[in-house]
Amino acid sequence: MDNNVVVTPWEVSGDLNEKAYAKIAKEFGVKIIDEALLSKIKAVTKDLHPFLLDGLFFAHRDLDTAIDSYKAGEELYLYTGRGPSGKMHLGHLLPFIFTKWLQERLGVHLLIQITDDEKYLVKDTGWEEIQKYVKENVADIISLGFEPSKTHIIIDSMHAGILYDNAVKFAKHVTASTVKAVFGIKDSENIGKFFFPSIQAVPSFLVSAIKKKKVRCLIPYSIDQDDYFRVARDVLPKMGYYKPSSIISKFVGSLQGGGKMSSSSPTSSIFLDDDEKTVRKKLMKYAFSGGKDTVEDQRKYGANPEIDFAFNMYRMLSEDHGATRKVYEEYKSGKMLSGEMKELAASTISRYLHELQARRKESGSRLHEYLFKPERFG
Ligand code: TRP
Repeated sequence: MDNNVVVTPWEVSGDLNEKAYAKIAKEFGVKIIDEALLSKIKAVTKDLHPFLLDGLFFAHRDLDTAIDSYKAGEELYLYTGRGPSGKMHLGHLLPFIFTKWLQERLGVHLLIQITDDEKYLVKDTGWEEIQKYVKENVADIISLGFEPSKTHIIIDSMHAGILYDNAVKFAKHVTASTVKAVFGIKDSENIGKFFFPSIQAVPSFLVSAIKKKKVRCLIPYSIDQDDYFRVARDVLPKMGYYKPSSIISKFVGSLQGGGKMSSSSPTSSIFLDDDEKTVRKKLMKYAFSGGKDTVEDQRKYGANPEIDFAFNMYRMLSEDHGATRKVYEEYKSGKMLSGEMKELAASTISRYLHELQARRKESGSRLHEYLFKPERFG
């Protein structure tokens, strides 16, 4: 891997360009989603989400197997998650927007795991503060509009009983040297980190464990989570379950450029509760631009939309893929200026957040509709 690129569940840094992603994919042993696989997906989903067309979801493990068995009428469910280490920002929405689309197209159940235990173990954040983010993040996720009868939120500390029963069975198959090698955890680190991968593995076989039969699971995640599921794929067959399949995304750029959007500094992200004025200000003042410094240069040489924050956010939230392609071409060719790109992004983001914030008002009181209950799968 490039000297400066680090991608683990707990650290993402370095210049994540196309070459770096190709290298990571190779090193992790994930396959790139090619045209043939896209057609296979389309045969069951009817259309292709822009994130697939644009290569934001770019890699997979056994996705073809999952689709084939779904097509043959076998049961399948989806699983994704969120580590509640802070407020949610725009970049966090990518996997959820995509998973919602997939769930609707396939009409399947979805488990969403909230790993408060993980964040407590790996961050310097106190337990109480993390619990505050659990509440806020769950309300944010609910406001995305998932179908409640098919969406099941698992909060690790709250669902500790059923998670633990299954995690110990998983943990018995995993040695400390495996965890050290895969995650790079050192002897000097806390023992919670050594056990935690067992907890994140559970939702990938939980439905099978409850139903006492093998059920296929497909996990959408960003590439930094791959370590977890590499281990899960080794272990699950030993427990009598299918290996989970995965569909894997890149990161969307941060406000100030570079890899993952961080939520540590208030100016480094656009938060889901930002108002229109704040969105506009952050875009104008801080957004990393792929455009040229002067109007003349931009007209002459054009922009690099791939690394442009405003373009990336506009593309993520715009539902019209045709329009997005046109903006891409015009910005890249220099017909469109950086300021115009930011204006367009500001109005798209504000419109999206406005709707989200309206639904968010009721989300807090709707948690009971979404909380995981094993009886629903019995
Ligand atoms: N570890 C993830 C994070 O820190 C949260 C998570 C749990 C997750 N289970 C998952 C993410 C499954 C994707 C898929 O954000």
